[in-house]
Amino acid sequence: MLFKKYKTTAIGLTACICFLLVYSSCFYDDKSKPNLEYMPDMYRSPSYETYSSYQNYSNDSVKQTGITARTPVEGTVPRGFLPYPYSNTNDGYEMAGQNLKNPIIITQEVVDQGKLMYTKFCVHCHGDKGDGNGMIVANGKFPAQPPSYMGDVLMALPVGKMFHTLEFGKGMMGSHASQISQQDRWKIISYITTVFQGRTKIGEQQMAVEMPKAEEPKTETKKK
Ligand code: HEC
Repeated sequence: MLFKKYKTTAIGLTACICFLLVYSSCFYDDKSKPNLEYMPDMYRSPSYETYSSYQNYSNDSVKQTGITARTPVEGTVPRGFLPYPYSNTNDGYEMAGQNLKNPIIITQEVVDQGKLMYTKFCVHCHGDKGDGNGMIVANGKFPAQPPSYMGDVLMALPVGKMFHTLEFGKGMMGSHASQISQQDRWKIISYITTVFQGRTKIGEQQMAVEMPKAEEPKTETKKK
């Protein structure tokens, strides 16, 4: 009888209490820490997450900086990118011209690959005929016309200087070092000297001097 009388109130009260309990779990001060977790490690892995901040982590070097991404050790060389030994100066340019030779054998495949990359990275300025009349030069969007590959100046330009220009850029031409690997840059140069300039032939190997080695890295690797 009594229960029946207060049935609605009892259900209402229970609902209220349940709601408050559930709702209260949404409020806790430290948002960086989870509330009650069931089998936490399943989704909160104890390993570092790249680029996350771990200010309170016990590892000292991480603690100091708060970040998990480390700078590579001194002397680290990215895959496919050998150290380039000449500086971005006139002297470096001259030295590269004297010492750097095309290290790859010019085959038809190399020339074809060079052409493909030329049409991606160079053609809009230098033009498909190599005369410096690329699309953005012809339509007036680019202020400086590149010299023709067939002109006297570039016909006589040592390939080492070409490579140096691709490494650091020159005048209005930007550096291509971060976009094109060294190997691929030599393929583009092979394409230019063979197809536009005719000063190299298929089957030719230019390399007389090896690309000088950069200084040995100073840090020693620990032997295990
Ligand atoms: C944004 C336009 C532009 C692009 C893209 C560009 N160049 Fe150039 N390039 C120039 C200009 C302008 C010059 C003349 C630079 C100077 O002598 O001041 C030049 C000069 C050169 C020279 C002569 C360098 C020297 O030492 O005198 C070579 C070789 C060359 N470019 C090759 C390339 C190759 C290969 C590519 C593609 C990987 C390329 N360029 C992409 C604009 C461009």
